[in-house]
Amino acid sequence: MQRIGVLGSGNVGTVLANGFLRHGHEVMRGSRDPVKLGDWLAKAGPSARTGTFAETAAWGEIVVLAVKGEAAESVLDLASAEVLAGKVVIDTTNPIASSPPVHGVLRYFTTLEESLMERLQRRVPSARFVKAFSVVGNALMVNPKLPGGPPTMFICGNDDAAKRDVTAILDTFGWLTEDLGAVEAARAIEPLCILWCIPGFQGRGWAHALKMLR
Ligand SMILES: NC(=O)c1ccc[n+]([C@@H]2O[C@H](COP(=O)([O-])OP(=O)(O)OC[C@H]3O[C@@H](n4cnc5c(N)ncnc54)[C@H](OP(=O)(O)O)[C@@H]3O)[C@@H](O)[C@H]2O)c1
Repeated sequence: MQRIGVLGSGNVGTVLANGFLRHGHEVMRGSRDPVKLGDWLAKAGPSARTGTFAETAAWGEIVVLAVKGEAAESVLDLASAEVLAGKVVIDTTNPIASSPPVHGVLRYFTTLEESLMERLQRRVPSARFVKAFSVVGNALMVNPKLPGGPPTMFICGNDDAAKRDVTAILDTFGWLTEDLGAVEAARAIEPLCILWCIPGFQGRGWAHALKMLR
């Protein structure tokens, strides 16, 4: 059992916080305005708590970053680099731009030469970022049940021990893990969200996930 600090009051924060609670961890969820998490807290049970981004990052042994991509760097600043130093930070974010999709293809504010996670890793060099959970909709993030069996979660990051910790979490959350290497692999992983969303925007539903076959 670990203390998991989930930065994010949105759907991803809710689903992952509930998943960690279900798998026996303690969870704190963070927001600029923790009051907005009151309804969640009331239902979440005795192993749950809420706080500011700074309080949540300080309390968590592992930190989950589940905030809007455009705000991710400023949330790291609110959490503070000193507090995040040495911690595993599971980065679920995608760099979705505010302009609308084109024929179901999301626009990103990053380029193929620089991912959001590279920006985050540069912002807090001492944090051990691992990209994970970014390539699937929140409804399927925890123990997805699909006819094709367990799907693949693509991860990357510079710290091998951190990736082992995240792989252990993904094992319990019902995923096969494909480690694509160092932080630069986020240039390839983050755009998989664009691909994942296209069938949904085309009206073919959102109940799908990706799988690496060999
Ligand atoms: N939705 C999905 O199914 C899905 C799937 C895969 C990956 N993702 C990625 O996961 C991340 C979270 O997605 P989401 O749908 O749960 O929620 P979201 O609406 O993208 O993000 C909500 C969070 O972002 C924070 N935020 C927004 N603007 C901010 C600002 N200006 N300054 C500081 N914080 C700000 C909010 O803080 P407050 O709590 O203070 O309001 C809140 O905690 C995103 O990067 C998304 O691309 C989403």
